[in-house]
Amino acid sequence: MSDMLVNLLNLPPLEPLVESLRVEGIVVRRPNSFEMTPLREYIVREFGTGWADEAAAGFANKPASLFIAIHEKKIVGFAAYDCTRRDFFGPTGVTSAYRNKGIGKALLIASLWGLREIGYVYGIIGGAGPKDYYVKTVGATIIAGSNPGIYTDLLG
Ligand SMILES: CC(C)(COP(=O)(O)OP(=O)(O)OC[C@H]1O[C@@H](n2cnc3c(N)ncnc32)[C@H](O)[C@@H]1OP(=O)(O)O)[C@@H](O)C(=O)NCCC(=O)NCCS
Repeated sequence: MSDMLVNLLNLPPLEPLVESLRVEGIVVRRPNSFEMTPLREYIVREFGTGWADEAAAGFANKPASLFIAIHEKKIVGFAAYDCTRRDFFGPTGVTSAYRNKGIGKALLIASLWGLREIGYVYGIIGGAGPKDYYVKTVGATIIAGSNPGIYTDLLG
C-alpha cells in the first residue's frame, strides 16, 4: 500500500459539505474526550482494533485530531489525522449503509483542514486503500517508492 500526497493549499471549503449533511440530520464534528469509549467501540466493531488504536492517539492532541459523523445520536463514520505519524491522514471509515452520501469526503476535508491549520502544506494519506477515492476527492498523488512505507515488520 503506497502513501499519497495532498496539496493542502487547494482544499475546498469545508462548511458547505458539513451544512449539506446537517440538512440530512448528519452532524460532522470533533469528538469530545468523554466520547472516547463509544468511538473506540464503534471503530473496533466496524473496522477492527488496529484502526481503533490508531485513532485513540488523536485524543492526545488538543484539539483532538479526529472527526466523527453522527446520525440519530449514533456514530456512522470517523476520520483521524496526525495520529499514526505526524502529518498522516487516516484511518477513516464510514458505516456501509451510510456510504456514498458525502460523509467520507466531509470527514476527509475537515481533517485535511486540520492538518493545514497546524502548519502543514502537504498532507500524507498513509497506506492509502481506495486510491481512486483520494484522487477524485482531493487530487491526491501516489508518492513514488512509498510502499511499504511504515508498514513493515508488522505483528502477526
Ligand atoms: C472510503 C470511504 C471512507 C468513503 O466514504 P463515503 O462516505 O462513501 O465517501 P463519499 O460519499 O464522501 O464519496 C465522495 C466521492 O468519492 C466517490 N467514492 C467513494 N468511494 C470511492 C471509492 N472506493 N473509489 C472511488 N471513488 C469513491 C463517491 O462516489 C463520491 O463521488 P461524487 O462526489 O462524484 O458523488 C468508505 O468507502 C469506507 O469507509 N471504506 C472502507 C474503509 C476504508 O477503505 N477506508 C480508507 C482507508 S485508507
